Amino acid sequence: KVRAAVFASGTGSNFQAIMEADDQLCDIALLVCDKPSAAVIDKAKKFGVPTFIFNPKDFNSKADYERVLLEELRKASVSWIFLAGYMRIVGPVLLSEFPARIVNIHPSLLPDFPGLDAIGQAYEAGADTTGVTVHYIDDGIDTGPIIEQQEVPVYPDDTKEQLTDRVQQVEHKLYPQVIQRLVEANT
Ligand code: GAR
Repeated sequence: KVRAAVFASGTGSNFQAIMEADDQLCDIALLVCDKPSAAVIDKAKKFGVPTFIFNPKDFNSKADYERVLLEELRKASVSWIFLAGYMRIVGPVLLSEFPARIVNIHPSLLPDFPGLDAIGQAYEAGADTTGVTVHYIDDGIDTGPIIEQQEVPVYPDDTKEQLTDRVQQVEHKLYPQVIQRLVEANT
């Protein structure tokens, strides 16, 4: 089985969707979290996934904490990293060690609405269509080669909450499917 890490900073609904997918090929061996109070940590415990929790403020630089993460990833024999609401830019220490092996999910049709609160950005802009993108990362904010996109309609009478639910339901189906496909194609 391929061993992977999930990096997350928040609620962990995508982490949960990945864990609940019946994936015969991919074993989530580690959850990495940069927010000691994030709800995703409890979800990892519930699924029995080992966690590595760190606070970036305890380090002088991104390179410093990423070297520590690299050590943990090596110990866990991880060959893929799936970002699931990890709200930090990944630096050269990890990028160079996992070329084309770090994947992100973002709740918009990139290159539209990168960065924070992409669903709110699309909503405020009055877009009639938004969506979800799964992509390899590079050193930018929500940039890098796109693997798959799925459109999500925005209805005229949507609240932001309704739109958020619709986008997240698509994320929770799409991400596990893409992960399965990537791992299958590379084993
Ligand atoms: C998800 O919607 C994910 O696409 C987004 O954060 C949310 C995390 O939710 N990621 C980004 O915006 C990356 N730029 P979750 O913690 O419930 O999975």
